[in-house]
Amino acid sequence: MNLFDSFKIRDISFRNRIAVSPMCEYSSEDGFANDWHLVHLGSRAVGGAGAVLTEAIAVLAKGRISPCDLGIWKDAHIENLARIVRFVRQQGSVAGTQLAHAGFKASTAAPWQNQRGPVAVTEGGWRPIYSSTSKGFTPESLEPEALTPEGIAQVAHAFAEGARRSLEAGFELVEIHGAHGYLIHQFLSPLVNTRTDQYGGSFGNRTRILREVVEAVRKVWPERLPLWLRISASDWTEGGWTIEDSVALARQVKPLGVDLIDASSGGIVPAAKIPVGPGYQTSFAERIRHGAGILTGTVGMIIAPEQAQHIIATGQADVVLLAREFLRHPYWPLSAAQVLKQQIAWPKQYERARF
Ligand SMILES: Cc1cc2nc3c(=O)[nH]c(=O)nc-3n(C[C@H](O)[C@H](O)[C@H](O)COP(=O)(O)O)c2cc1C
Repeated sequence: MNLFDSFKIRDISFRNRIAVSPMCEYSSEDGFANDWHLVHLGSRAVGGAGAVLTEAIAVLAKGRISPCDLGIWKDAHIENLARIVRFVRQQGSVAGTQLAHAGFKASTAAPWQNQRGPVAVTEGGWRPIYSSTSKGFTPESLEPEALTPEGIAQVAHAFAEGARRSLEAGFELVEIHGAHGYLIHQFLSPLVNTRTDQYGGSFGNRTRILREVVEAVRKVWPERLPLWLRISASDWTEGGWTIEDSVALARQVKPLGVDLIDASSGGIVPAAKIPVGPGYQTSFAERIRHGAGILTGTVGMIIAPEQAQHIIATGQADVVLLAREFLRHPYWPLSAAQVLKQQIAWPKQYERARF
């Protein structure tokens, strides 16, 4: 396998194994996509990515990380997203979106706002909905409200509605966000899930909401289209979620229709010690790939073309997802191909600049 080999998941062909990792832009009003998102996502499609994923897109208004996140909780959101999807697909990239609910990490300010942390209800914020206890992510967090079983069913339905709207917008790939301390992860992790009902306690109970979300999404997301799942493969904390749990989870969700596990990590507790460095999460993708016999994506400080090629060539993962490197270099795949001496198609408008 090579970085620039095309491949197929279900009926969808990807021109290479490079994906733009979801990145919040904090640039929406009332969840609507706008010109910023068009140019941000569109330029990375022009740059040659195999798949371009939107930022975490909220399936419910209260599930937004901040008041300026993208949303997909109402049909009115579809039209602006469809414009972006059309452009991304015209450039030869697969257009994907990441369905999300922030749980107790909802209603926070954009990173560049002076007031970091929670946004007060009087300033457009809201009380977050959380998985189990009424403890927030940090002592400053707004006090969350525990989800009832009816609330959990509504969340699963909202994910399915998000998938239906994604389909209408023309997306060909959906990723469920089960990582980074957001709602689904709050159920998975024993560090914060202290529920005593059928959604807490045992591994089977803590993973129940995710299975219900996957099943609800798969009911409306067609067989011919790929479904990815992002998880935090480790909480990096004693007593937390582990890589062994991740392998077991991957085995559970594969028969439910998840095609690829996008293995990230951390985010459930602020104090976790994460050994950040080049490719620091790649071993998780490798363990899950071999342990569960499922496709995996790896993310986290993948920067050099040779590094990305090595990951794919050695079978550690099937896809590399790049986030910050794509902010620095929107056309990263075009120059990576040159470094790796691979012939790939350039946008015809840019041919004259070809190396
Ligand atoms: C600006 C920014 C926004 C992000 N937003 C999201 C997001 O919406 N969903 C998500 O799963 N990860 C998000 N992430 C995490 C990235 O997708 C990625 O996992 C992380 O940055 C590590 O990859 P990198 O070293 O290539 O940046 C974000 C990262 C950045 C830098």
